[in-house]
Amino acid sequence: MSTSAGSGRAHPLVGRAAELDDLDELLSVVAGGGGATVLIEGECGVGKSSLVGALRGGAHLLDVELCVARADEADRRPFAMLTAALLGPSGRATSSPVGAELTSLLDALGDDPTGAAVLVERAGELFAALVRHRGDQHPWVLVLEDVHLADDASLQVLLRLAHEGAVSRALVLATMRPVPYRPALAEVVTAWTRAGARYLELRPLSARASLDLAETMVGGVIGPALRGTVATAGGNPMLITDVVRTARRTGAVVVLDGVHDTPDPGWLVALDAVVRARLDYLPAEVRLLLGQASVLGSSFVISDVAALSGEPVAGCWRTLRHAMAAGLVHARGDRLVFRHDLVRGALYDGLDPSGRRALHARAAWALREAGAPVHVVAGHLDRAR
Ligand SMILES: Nc1ncnc2c1ncn2[C@@H]1O[C@H](COP(=O)(O)OP(=O)(O)OP(=O)(O)O)[C@@H](O)[C@H]1O
Ligand SMILES: [Mg+2]
Repeated sequence: MSTSAGSGRAHPLVGRAAELDDLDELLSVVAGGGGATVLIEGECGVGKSSLVGALRGGAHLLDVELCVARADEADRRPFAMLTAALLGPSGRATSSPVGAELTSLLDALGDDPTGAAVLVERAGELFAALVRHRGDQHPWVLVLEDVHLADDASLQVLLRLAHEGAVSRALVLATMRPVPYRPALAEVVTAWTRAGARYLELRPLSARASLDLAETMVGGVIGPALRGTVATAGGNPMLITDVVRTARRTGAVVVLDGVHDTPDPGWLVALDAVVRARLDYLPAEVRLLLGQASVLGSSFVISDVAALSGEPVAGCWRTLRHAMAAGLVHARGDRLVFRHDLVRGALYDGLDPSGRRALHARAAWALREAGAPVHVVAGHLDRAR
């Protein structure tokens, strides 16, 4: 098992040795006076923050300061993301002339939204100068977490800096989910790309690493039933941890001859509820359509979902493109396949029983019209009762 201790995490990082090696190498480059930018993109819960967190040990060893900013959807104030990273937790820094000017500009921006454009422009220049010169004394890492949620003014600063190339004596690490799409962020990513930034797409864990993570959490070998449930997480470490934590919390884990397993499936109802709550970040129409699609099984044809939902194919396709970008389904010819069977099961479980029966009845009709085999149609009719 590949692990990286020392990140302050409850359990070790699995399956990310190659990514960590790459980032550690860049840390050395920065410690030696260079500059680099890395964009880390991946689906919800795939382990972006954990990977970045695992760099702490290396940064400490190389005496490189780590500065972390996390964009927050609820905080739309101009420069909210950069303020937290560069002016400290209080958001005020009066000890340097630039910090003092920024502090008063941000105060003025809070008090007087009129004339804001001039103030935002000046504050943007100062933030860019802070980032540009912070490494003059000492190399550093700027972690920008969840830039897909960043305020527009912070994104403008990043754009300005990206046009100048990599920040010298700094490793800039930005993490983002692929959705929601933001044109202002796309512009920054394009500029970073042109400036030679690395792009690291964080993929789901392999089946082996998924099992390693579950067994590390449980503290022993896991049996076939629990292993089967872990496999439905599609390699997403957040979902794997949800599986193990929920199995434990509900008292479902039984240890027999040193093997940890969940022989009674009753706890899966609680797991479905946990997994559904993980989907709250998706727009309601995406959750609704995926819920309807879940009736068709772990893969489905788009025109069948359209017939089922009563929506035009083009509209369904638009909605499902969002689900594809989010990494919840992927395309195989004219089919879409749920990437995590755990998610499909949770959505199916979340349908209210009478609505679910009606959907099965409509599925039977739609599939018969489309020429599906008799036994498949009969299966839906059974569940429509
Ligand atoms: N490689 C890994 N090994 C072990 N545990 C992991 C790994 N990656 C992630 N985890 C665990 O999975 C959960 C989700 O990870 P993390 O928060 O890093 O994901 P993320 O991609 O940053 O999610 P988000 O999209 O919500 O920001 C955490 O509990 C974390 O400890
Ligand atoms: Mg994260």
